[in-house]
Amino acid sequence: MLGSQHMVSSNPKKLEGKVAIITGGASGIGEATARLFADHGARMIVVGDIQDDLGQEVAISIGTDKCIYMHCDVSNEDQVKALVDSTVQTYGQLDIMFSNAGIVITSSQTVVDLDFTTLDRVFAVNVRGMAACVKHAARVMIEKGVRGSIVCTASVTGSRGGPRLTDYSMSKHAVIGLVKSASTQLGVHGIRVNSVSPSAVATPTLCRSFGGIDAEQAEKICERLASLKGIVPKVNHVADTVLFLASGDSAFVSGHDLVVDGGLLSKLA
Ligand SMILES: NC(=O)c1ccc[n+]([C@@H]2O[C@H](COP(=O)([O-])OP(=O)(O)OC[C@H]3O[C@@H](n4cnc5c(N)ncnc54)[C@H](O)[C@@H]3O)[C@@H](O)[C@H]2O)c1
Repeated sequence: MLGSQHMVSSNPKKLEGKVAIITGGASGIGEATARLFADHGARMIVVGDIQDDLGQEVAISIGTDKCIYMHCDVSNEDQVKALVDSTVQTYGQLDIMFSNAGIVITSSQTVVDLDFTTLDRVFAVNVRGMAACVKHAARVMIEKGVRGSIVCTASVTGSRGGPRLTDYSMSKHAVIGLVKSASTQLGVHGIRVNSVSPSAVATPTLCRSFGGIDAEQAEKICERLASLKGIVPKVNHVADTVLFLASGDSAFVSGHDLVVDGGLLSKLA
């Protein structure tokens, strides 16, 4: 009977016993997701980032029995491989890769003024870095026979153009291409690959994308841009969506870009 195949678990802890890597986990969306994964019973969360002090603080505040920090610049493939390999060597396997690290360098990248040194650095992190995380996570999941979940952070700018942030928008379109290719290739191993695409939530990266505004101004902008009455978008809204994609609740969802924008893109369409 179809009804008897309803698989959504009533277990409030959705990640019991799982081992996860979160890149860009020292701040913002990645940090919120690390905390949520811990609340949901993840056995170990390995935060990879380049902000060592902040990353250590996050791990200590979650509890080093559940979360550790490792320095990893995702633009360096050797460092991504080391992050993945050491996680598997120490904790036995990798169930979840949340490839989330991403940067905005300047908000002033219009096509006519495009600075290619800046574009190359944005691509090194947002595109090459994401691809390296997907590649090395997939390799160990295949090797260990783990039906894992890979989630990448794209953006609403990954399916729209805009008046500026050309390099960033291009890089996020590439993330969605990566997710589509990887999900097509990895389904045969039972590995799911999806992306999450937030609109504006107040983080240091958002502050840079608006030309260096402070946190208070960022909150106001997010409130103004919010398209769903009564909700100011926060990092937790994105983390909740990542949890859905990482957990068994989304067991048959792969190759999907899940937009977390309160309906903004539909309104613009
Ligand atoms: N905040 C938003 O409104 C928004 C919207 C859409 C997408 N995003 C995406 O969300 C992701 C997370 O950003 P956030 O908003 O939480 O910002 P954030 O600045 O709070 O966090 C980004 C983290 O990535 C880390 N990082 C940067 N370069 C790195 C590298 N080379 N290697 C490893 N870590 C690196 C940073 O140190 C930082 O801890 C990014 O991919 C960003 O593009 C953010």
